[in-house]
Amino acid sequence: MDPTLPLLTTLTDRSATGVALAIGRLISTGTLAPGDKLPSIRAVADELGLSPTTVSESWRILQGHGAIETEGRRGTFVRGPRQGAAPGRYWQVPVDPGTFATDLSTGTPDPQLLPPLGPILSQVTLDLPVTSYLDAPVLPELGANLRMSWPFEPELLTIVDGAQDGLDRLVQALVNVGDCVVVNEPAFPPLLDMFDQAGARVIGVSMDDEGCCPESLSAALAEDPVVFFLQPRAHNPTGITMTKRRAKQLASLLETTTLTVVEDDHSADVSGADLASLGQFLPERVVHIRSFSKSHGPDLRLAAVGGAAAPIDTMVRRRRLGPSWSSRLLQQVLLNMLHDPETCAAIDRAQDEYLRRRRSLVEALAARDIAVGGDAGLNLWVPVIDEQNALVVLAANGFGASPGEPFSVAQGTGSPHIRVSIGAVDDGIDELADVIARAATTPRNGPRS
Ligand SMILES: Cc1ncc(COP(=O)(O)O)c(C=O)c1O
Repeated sequence: MDPTLPLLTTLTDRSATGVALAIGRLISTGTLAPGDKLPSIRAVADELGLSPTTVSESWRILQGHGAIETEGRRGTFVRGPRQGAAPGRYWQVPVDPGTFATDLSTGTPDPQLLPPLGPILSQVTLDLPVTSYLDAPVLPELGANLRMSWPFEPELLTIVDGAQDGLDRLVQALVNVGDCVVVNEPAFPPLLDMFDQAGARVIGVSMDDEGCCPESLSAALAEDPVVFFLQPRAHNPTGITMTKRRAKQLASLLETTTLTVVEDDHSADVSGADLASLGQFLPERVVHIRSFSKSHGPDLRLAAVGGAAAPIDTMVRRRRLGPSWSSRLLQQVLLNMLHDPETCAAIDRAQDEYLRRRRSLVEALAARDIAVGGDAGLNLWVPVIDEQNALVVLAANGFGASPGEPFSVAQGTGSPHIRVSIGAVDDGIDELADVIARAATTPRNGPRS
């Protein structure tokens, strides 16, 4: 008999999480060493009288957490000390810079549409000395400015190094191995990678043109999730914006639960759509993230996180052990930009231009019988017959785009799409629409000759 099996017979929690935690303990106490082979799923299931599905779910949890790895037919092994993260979905999205004449694979803003930083930088002076590493992490004037324009009264507000940093810190603060998390689907690939690394069980909530579907959220809530992540507007990749009516419906479903809601407003001031926030209904349970990357500049690396005190406080306290705060010099730059009329005008112009580009391409595709939904943001979620063949056709014409697969919660389950970002599309819309239409209709067995 496999020597690990007797060690598991004292198990009290017989759920997938319980089995995962028991194996995790055997690993962390050194009873199981790196390189040790685990018994087969079938052997564990037989020995413990559990279903193979439960055991396989625990293996998945441990794998997501980086504690074990499966090497095909050789079996499953305890992993060595943590190395760099395994390549996840995120790395499948962007193409190598310079590969294509026009790269539409990244959701980054058009550098030509960012407000100029030069005049702002020349005015920046920071009179606040750093007196302690425990100083307040937010410049008081910036905090006051953001509170005034927040979609609801935040109990706590802090600044982090971009929305993605905020998501990462919140996942670490809120999600434990085996926890169930809910996310709008399609989902932001790095966020799915973060869930995998946290060892979470992930449930996708489907979307229609008003946002997350209430029926789908309601089914997900039955799994007792700890947190619900959503993008309230200009959803990446679909461009869908949650309506006020939908926000109200979702809030009434969430009212009877205790889960935390995290809203990622990643395009904020250049979204091109009004914001409806669940925080307007459930302020004590919503954490709202506002990024300044696409509007003010990705290199500021700044986002604000405001809302429910408990999760934000956990995140801020944990951060004290690391970098403590985001550069207050950059916070001062942001504050000056928020006050500067020319910067505000440049951001308004950028928002209009992104909307124009998006609408022109959507209309040009509609004229070619390709229906693309959503109404805002930098991305188009284009239905295709075959993702890889569509990407090949685009590449042959000098365009790079992203495969849709990394945006699926469960790999291989989404309908085929590609994501086309419009940051780099300032003209040539008709020519681009011709190529996308050809790419989208290329059949599974390859480009037509
Ligand atoms: C959904 C979503 N969240 C977060 C980010 C990253 O934002 P930031 O640059 O503020 O880290 C992006 C970037 O495109 C995004 O699409």
